[in-house]
Amino acid sequence: MGDLLEKIKQEFQEIYPDSSTPRVFFAPGRVNLIGEHTDYTGGFVMPMALDLGITMLATPRDDGVYHLKSTNFENSVEFSNSYLLGNEVSLDKKDPWGNYPKGIVLELSKLGLELKGADILYSSNLPTGAGLSSSAAIGMVTAYGLSKLGDLQITNEELAFLCQRMENDFIGVKSGIMDQFAVGLSKKDHAIFLDCNSMEWEYVPLNLEGHKVVITNTGKKRGLNESRYNERRHESEEALQKLSELKPQIKSYRDLTLADLSLINTLMYPYKERARHIVTENHRVLEAKKALESGSLTQFGQLMLASHRSLSVDYEVTGRELDSLFQSQLEAGCFKTRMTGAGFGGCTVSLVIENKVEYFIETVRANYKARTGLDSEFYLAKSSGGVREIREGL
Ligand code: GLA
Repeated sequence: MGDLLEKIKQEFQEIYPDSSTPRVFFAPGRVNLIGEHTDYTGGFVMPMALDLGITMLATPRDDGVYHLKSTNFENSVEFSNSYLLGNEVSLDKKDPWGNYPKGIVLELSKLGLELKGADILYSSNLPTGAGLSSSAAIGMVTAYGLSKLGDLQITNEELAFLCQRMENDFIGVKSGIMDQFAVGLSKKDHAIFLDCNSMEWEYVPLNLEGHKVVITNTGKKRGLNESRYNERRHESEEALQKLSELKPQIKSYRDLTLADLSLINTLMYPYKERARHIVTENHRVLEAKKALESGSLTQFGQLMLASHRSLSVDYEVTGRELDSLFQSQLEAGCFKTRMTGAGFGGCTVSLVIENKVEYFIETVRANYKARTGLDSEFYLAKSSGGVREIREGL
């Protein structure tokens, strides 16, 4: 990993020969273990950060200009502080990555960041558009790194909210807080349990007893913008509105429990289904936390399966690829698996017995290819801490 960093540093010097030695920052991607499409309704989630992520090398400038490059993409991005002050920074729909840092600089400048530009190089080993939070990682690494360069006193939790504002207002995706929070506050060897209503959180040790966390990519790219993410969010809000008309005490999804399922079942499609997913998923996250704490992995696995089925049947965010992958994994004898992230393509997360990993990969690869014609990709996930400055190696 040290070698990799040396290579990126060299590349930085070649791109910016007049720059001084850059500072290095890293933000991980995340995989959500359970609690899907619950964050934006004030529910529970339990993700963990990955050792894959985005590295950012940066040096401050004094002419008010931001130069951005990435080792993963051809294009460069450039904008200036004066442009920002006029709030004229605009979204370039064709650019796959530059809008995130642009939006972050805009948000940071609103908080009084005094930075007169920077030379920046990004390098990512996180697959983009795979549901592993590449957008939260580029947002958080930029926000964290620039706040350090500009001596802005701000906590990682505040940075997570700042990144969420950037995604909601600048990019136009009405995402919840889970990804930015996991990227900002995770701890190695732990999942992070977050109550998105009170914003209280707790680290849960990953007692995985001889299992590996395997992420499988469907190979179907998903852009949150193009997806029906915002539509689902809207439907869930409408479902809540209908429920509170029926029972005025219901003000949020957290006022609902499994005992309210009979009331929920009186709604029409799609409100019944969307609300049913959210209420049952919140319950599953609480049960999954207990299962992880007590080392009951079989129970944890059952909750994962139920989560996937609910996301497939009730929330309708899986689609052919994720459902085929899930089915292939069950047929490979893995009963601790589910889709992860927003859905509509992207990845699954599975707990696989260590000495079965090879068999799992081979069987799932072949079975999924036969079903869909698509090539899957596998990552053995290692947990990691949240966004940070790297002083030596990676
Ligand atoms: C995306 C969003 C998150 C969350 C998940 C679904 O990753 O960014 O806020 O809503 O989808 O659980």
